[in-house]
Amino acid sequence: MSAVEVSSVTKEFAVAAARPARGRGGAGRGGAGRDTAASGPGTVRALDDVSLTVAEGEFVALIGPSGCGKSTLMRLIADLDEPSSGEVSVFGMPARQARLERAYGIAFQQSGLLPWRTVRANVELPLQLHGAPAAERRARADELIELVGLTEFADRHPDQLSGGMQQRVAIARSLAEHPRLLLMDEPFGALDEMTRERLQGELLRIRAETGAAVVFVTHSIPEAVFLADRVVVMSARPGRITDIVAVERTPMAAGPADDAVRETDAFFRSVTAVREALHGREGAAPRGAEAR
Ligand SMILES: Nc1ncnc2c1ncn2[C@@H]1O[C@H](COP(=O)(O)OP(=O)(O)OP(=O)(O)O)[C@@H](O)[C@H]1O
Ligand SMILES: [Mg+2]
Repeated sequence: MSAVEVSSVTKEFAVAAARPARGRGGAGRGGAGRDTAASGPGTVRALDDVSLTVAEGEFVALIGPSGCGKSTLMRLIADLDEPSSGEVSVFGMPARQARLERAYGIAFQQSGLLPWRTVRANVELPLQLHGAPAAERRARADELIELVGLTEFADRHPDQLSGGMQQRVAIARSLAEHPRLLLMDEPFGALDEMTRERLQGELLRIRAETGAAVVFVTHSIPEAVFLADRVVVMSARPGRITDIVAVERTPMAAGPADDAVRETDAFFRSVTAVREALHGREGAAPRGAEAR
C-alpha cells in the first residue's frame, strides 16, 4: 500500500471578479487569473491532471515556481480542500477518512503555534484535542521535545524562542500522534542557512527513527536533494508535474543526515538534474507575452 496516491487530480478555483485590492483598484484577483491557466471565465486551474504515488516511508520533495500549485496539492492531500476532479487517497483511505483517523501530521510554513501556550502545551495540543489522558500527553510531549532538542525550553512560550526553535516545536507537534505520513509545506522557508541545514539533518534523523513517509514543499534545490528520495518538479500555468528526479545516493559513513553528503559528486549530479528539470523547461517552452 502507498502512503499517498494522487490520481488525475485537477483543481480549479472560482475567482471572484472584482474583489477590491488595496491600492490596486480591484485588479488583485485578476492578477491571480493571469498567473495560472484560466480554464473558463471566473476560474483558475491550479492543478491540471496531477498524478503522484508516494510509497510508505518514502521522502518526496515538491519543487516548482511560485503559484504552480504545490500548496494546493498539499491541502488536497490533507483534506483541507477538495479536488475538482480526480482522487486522493492516503494509506488506501479517502483523504477525508485519513484526516479523521489522524493518519498524518502537518507542519506548514507558519509554525502555527499558539502564543499563549508553552512549548510543552503546544506539542500536547493534538493529543489533548483527541482526548489523551494528561499523563500520557505529558510523557509523549516530553519525549518529542527531547527529540527536537528543546528540553530546557519546554516551559517557555513561543515568543521567547527563535524562529528555528519555533519550527522545531511545530515539527514535534506534527509527530505527536505517531503519524506514518508528514506533510510539510516550506517548513524551513524563513530560516537562516545554518539553522536550516541543521533542521534538515534533524528531520532526516527523525524520519529514520519514525519511518514516516514525508511530502515536503521547498523552493531550494539543494534542500530537496539533501532530503528527498525523489524530487517532483512542477510547472505553472497550469500546475503540472513535469519531471520526477530520483536522487542519487552514495554509500555514507555516518548515516542519512551526514552533512558530508552535500559535498559529494552524487549530490551535485542530482542538484544539476533538478536544476535542469526546473530551468530547462523555462528556457525551452516559449510562452509568448510572459517571456522576460
Ligand atoms: N483559495 C484560492 N482561491 C483562488 N485561487 C487560489 C486559491 N488558492 C490558490 N489559488 C491559486 O492557485 C494557484 C496555485 O497556488 P498555490 O498556493 O498552490 O501555489 P504554490 O505553488 O504553493 O506557490 P508558492 O510557491 O508561492 O507557495 C495560484 O495561481 C493561486 O493564485
Ligand atoms: Mg505555497
